[in-house]
Amino acid sequence: MSDRYLELVNSSVGSAVASRVGLPRPAKLRRFADDAPILPGPALLGSTAGRVPAALKKLVTSAGVEVLDSIDKLSTGERVAAAVLDARSIATPGDLAALRAFLAPAVKALAPSGRVIVLGVPADGADVRVDATRQALDGIVRSLAKELRAGATANLLWVADDASLGAALRFFLSGRSAYVDGQPLLLGPGVAPAPKDWTRPLTGKTALVTGAARGIGAAIAGVLARDGANVIAADLTQAGEALAKVANRIGGTALHLDVAAADAPQRLIDHLGAQTSGLDILVHNAGITRDKLMANMKPEQWDSVIAVNLESQLTINAALLASDQLNDQSRTVSLSSTTGFSGNRGQTNYGATKAGVIGLVRSSAAAFAAHGNGTINAVAPGFIDTDMTAKMPLATREVARRLSSLQQAGLPVDVAEAVSWLASPGAGGVTGQVLRVCGQNLVGA
Ligand code: NAI
Repeated sequence: MSDRYLELVNSSVGSAVASRVGLPRPAKLRRFADDAPILPGPALLGSTAGRVPAALKKLVTSAGVEVLDSIDKLSTGERVAAAVLDARSIATPGDLAALRAFLAPAVKALAPSGRVIVLGVPADGADVRVDATRQALDGIVRSLAKELRAGATANLLWVADDASLGAALRFFLSGRSAYVDGQPLLLGPGVAPAPKDWTRPLTGKTALVTGAARGIGAAIAGVLARDGANVIAADLTQAGEALAKVANRIGGTALHLDVAAADAPQRLIDHLGAQTSGLDILVHNAGITRDKLMANMKPEQWDSVIAVNLESQLTINAALLASDQLNDQSRTVSLSSTTGFSGNRGQTNYGATKAGVIGLVRSSAAAFAAHGNGTINAVAPGFIDTDMTAKMPLATREVARRLSSLQQAGLPVDVAEAVSWLASPGAGGVTGQVLRVCGQNLVGA
């Protein structure tokens, strides 16, 4: 469903009117395009330690990005497409002044859909002064993300280990992360090989996406295929026609599978055994809503949501881990929701499952790591334009669309890009994490 308001305020008349009366002015976001570079202009690099580490510079330049090491080298009127600040050296509150010194002029020079990325070290409990200073980065980045306009974003990478730093920088600098804003993400140790071809990082991988007949699931199937994976698109038998169309469009195969059926795990394992050489990527996307206030909630409304959105993921994961069908360095990604953090009126059942998924990925990381260095993460979409949200009353939907720092709903492809990145070999250092794709949704942000 197109966002007519966004189109209007991006016309010359609409833009002038919106600016005069102070209405939100959502920008058209820079998204992935086949022929586009990772970044459409130079990235300004800085470090709170003074000198930018050569290794960091190399990671950025090897992504094909031009690097500027001083804002003074910018000619008048020239913009930077990104500002990357390595703040891993900070240790006392006084050191935080270096962030202001770098970011204030950088933000002024930031191009539309620009990227601010701050690198920090996660607090480790060794020294309270150091920990308090490190944690301050979270408040700076979240606040800055709320100030940025014109489709620009700010995100924070907690670098406990740099195994996945290169892949993470490519994702966060590129149009793939268009709707990820104001988010911290922990990069830990892991097996994170660089793909042979960064443009098709999933080449040779077998992926299964549940609920793939429409909406976010169909977009995930499409992006995984675009990125090189052989995709099995799974959905209910009644979604058969739509599912077949998705599978044909992406050059994948279709599988009729009700994830909540008692025999679903075994049917899945049998299918993998017969048709594939094992599973590399599993995306638990199938989900339903049965909204009711708690006072009016019927047992079947409660039970069906728990069964589809949470119980199915637990049983399928357990069966796969116990089988010989999950390959080494597997990637599992579960769909949570910002409702899992913030709650939502009328969604106690749904909120239970989406918070449950967060618990599931945190708790499963060790088991997947023990199974050939696999990872498991969740993606928590905010307000995404799909059939699910099209059911909302018009006025509620219009308000909900503007309630994020990017002042617009996300698209299914935005969620799909995050899933595909977490599913890639280079993301091996990211596990047990939840990445919100919500445009910095102001509800519970
Ligand atoms: P949708 O309703 O458009 O599509 C869901 C798909 O899952 C459908 O094709 C449906 O047939 C399938 N499905 C339902 N029950 C199934 C079952 N038992 N077995 C197999 N397939 C089943 O939903 P949408 O919006 O694309 O959402 C996808 C996921 O993203 C869900 O987990 C949802 O909770 C989550 N999400 C969506 C948000 C949004 O704004 N649309 C926001 C946050 C999370």
